Amino acid sequence: MKNVLFIALALLIFSCGDKAEKKKFEYSAPKATTPVETTTKTEAAIAYETLVDLENKGIGPIKSVEIGDTVDMDLAKKGETFFNTTCVACHKTDKKFIGPALGDVTTKRSPEWIMNMVMNTAEMTKKDPLAKGIYEEYNKAVMITAPVSEDNARAIVEYLRSLEK
Ligand code: HEC
Repeated sequence: MKNVLFIALALLIFSCGDKAEKKKFEYSAPKATTPVETTTKTEAAIAYETLVDLENKGIGPIKSVEIGDTVDMDLAKKGETFFNTTCVACHKTDKKFIGPALGDVTTKRSPEWIMNMVMNTAEMTKKDPLAKGIYEEYNKAVMITAPVSEDNARAIVEYLRSLEK
């Protein structure tokens, strides 16, 4: 008799549970899409551009550059002229444009890295971890410039140094 009662009770619980589950299923709201991933991406996006790495010389023809203690203003002027014809289409010095703001870039990157970035952009954005990271952060916007000579690239570095605060 005990057994029969037990089975009846078990069946009752089972069927109740079944009903409860059905009810729960009917009322369950559709899964909300979580914005968590986008947040993480945005946070990661800031990292490479603001990262300071003065050791990395990049990949390209420039292995070592002599930098004076003070800014060579004549060279900086030459760099400014070249910058204003070749780079301003995509770069501003004080704020983000198509590419990053370059006013403080000499405090974040070595002169060699900057020159290699300018003279050897395609390989840099493919192989240099930092350039690759920034390229991803700018949604793969491609930096294309007319070929830049070593003299002009060096002059640009001097111009950018003159902007350092
Ligand atoms: C067609 C647009 C375009 C032109 C023209 C251009 N750039 Fe860029 N530049 C970019 C973009 C976009 C990036 C971000 C990285 C990438 O996508 O390759 C970039 C990145 C850079 C960086 C790395 C910045 C950082 O925060 O480390 C430097 C340095 C740079 N450019 C210098 C120059 C100089 C100097 C010139 C002129 C000779 C120039 N660029 C011309 C679009 C351009």
